[in-house]
Amino acid sequence: MSTIAVIGTGYVGLTTGACFAHLGHDVVCADVDAAKVDRLSRGEVDILEPRLDELVAEGLSSGRLRFVVGGAGAAEDCEFAYLCVPTPQSPDGAADLSYIEAAAREIAPVLPTEAIVVNKSTVPVGSTRVVERVLRRPDVRVVSNPEFLREGSAVHDFLNPDRIVIGSEDEAAAIRVSSLYLRIQAPTIVTDPATAETIKYAANAYLATKISFINSMAAVCEAVGADVHDVVLGMGYDHRIGHDFLKPGPGWGGSCFPKDVRALIHTAESRGYDFELLRSVVAVNDQQFERIARKVAGAAGGSLEGTRVGVWGLAFKANTGDLRESPAIEIVSRLLARGAEVQAYDPAVPTDSADPALERVPGLRVVGDAFAACEGAEVLAVLTEWDEFRFVDLDKVREAMAVPRVVDARNLLDRTALYRRGFTYEGVGRS
Ligand code: NAD
Ligand code: UGA
Repeated sequence: MSTIAVIGTGYVGLTTGACFAHLGHDVVCADVDAAKVDRLSRGEVDILEPRLDELVAEGLSSGRLRFVVGGAGAAEDCEFAYLCVPTPQSPDGAADLSYIEAAAREIAPVLPTEAIVVNKSTVPVGSTRVVERVLRRPDVRVVSNPEFLREGSAVHDFLNPDRIVIGSEDEAAAIRVSSLYLRIQAPTIVTDPATAETIKYAANAYLATKISFINSMAAVCEAVGADVHDVVLGMGYDHRIGHDFLKPGPGWGGSCFPKDVRALIHTAESRGYDFELLRSVVAVNDQQFERIARKVAGAAGGSLEGTRVGVWGLAFKANTGDLRESPAIEIVSRLLARGAEVQAYDPAVPTDSADPALERVPGLRVVGDAFAACEGAEVLAVLTEWDEFRFVDLDKVREAMAVPRVVDARNLLDRTALYRRGFTYEGVGRS
């Protein structure tokens, strides 16, 4: 078993640290946020991730998981230092490596000889070299080991990955990193750093492409009177296509797809290739936000000026409280700009939430339950696919609303049950 430092305790870092401890390694997780380190040291996990609190508690009580402030305190005795810090989008679309560089700078003086620094953050080609340059430690190898977990199922995905990707110029270092995952059954691809980094971007960009494709198909289905669900069924049974990531919706979002797709476009452009396909994937996604906002306006008779709209869902997808780059927030901001009065409910967003993502929608009123969002509303927009909405009491919804109209951007609700109660209903890609 190995000694691992994890720098950054967000979705990826905390999951990585807790899961490595669960696999038997000794892990010290570091963050710059002292209050967060305090809470984590008491076993308090403030993100919504199934089993994460359980694994953190297990790690703390076994002594295999500790939390400290600052990377240096974690890295001084480690064999591996995993960098799990943010790589946000710069104004020009490129990935901003300043957090990676800062973390590398911090751990450089204390890393033991022969330690391996591992990039788990999503970083563009060349970042392994950037870290090497910042470290100035010829005795330390830098390896790429991108992460493919999804929010909302982070622990499950980490422990049951479709594959493990390791990029290294040094075979011995690659073998040492792969040995950390010995208790996990998954195909392991060992390649060079540039290829490992490219695999990560290619996977995210391809998944985003699938969603933009199906959202475009949904528009075609509406135009020709076809049902996109049956189209996906019919396509998906072709094993070359599959059913996954073909759910039409309000557009893709979250903390990664938007920045990673743009970073790949930027990388290609900076090397002289115009990635026109991906630019269209982004454009289709922007159109999708607008298409949903227009559906809501259309349901209200064309104008939203002074119209009360109820919204179900603010998170970028169900089972997470993450509002970063959420399509729901984007759509709410478009409804507000059209003069609507918007009241929204999300099971993971408290009414007094101070989430910075809400700063984009200053007029929004966050309410405490699904029915409060419907109170006096002339249209209800379903923007996130929480199960709670699927199984809601529709009679109570009918009672609460001023006019029974639903725009269901996730095709979540039972439209027959709604029609029976006198609602008008519009989904995505279904006539
Ligand atoms: P996050 O914003 O949830 O967490 C990052 C953490 O790093 C924060 O707690 C922050 O305080 C901390 N931090 C910043 N600088 C630090 C430093 N110098 N030392 C110690 N801690 C520091 O980020 P995330 O969602 O976990 O993403 C991290 C990286 O992983 C990104 O590159 C992202 O693209 C990639 N990734 C994310 C996911 C996901 O589902 N969120 C999945 C795969 C890959
Ligand atoms: C995504 C990838 O799925 C992970 O493999 C990757 O590790 C991660 O990005 C990352 O690099 O951060 P995540 O952002 O958690 O994971 O969310 P997804 O489940 O991929 O959903 C992304 C967006 O696409 C959401 O807005 C979701 O609602 C939307 N989506 C997804 C659809 O509209 N339709 C679908 O069929 C699937």
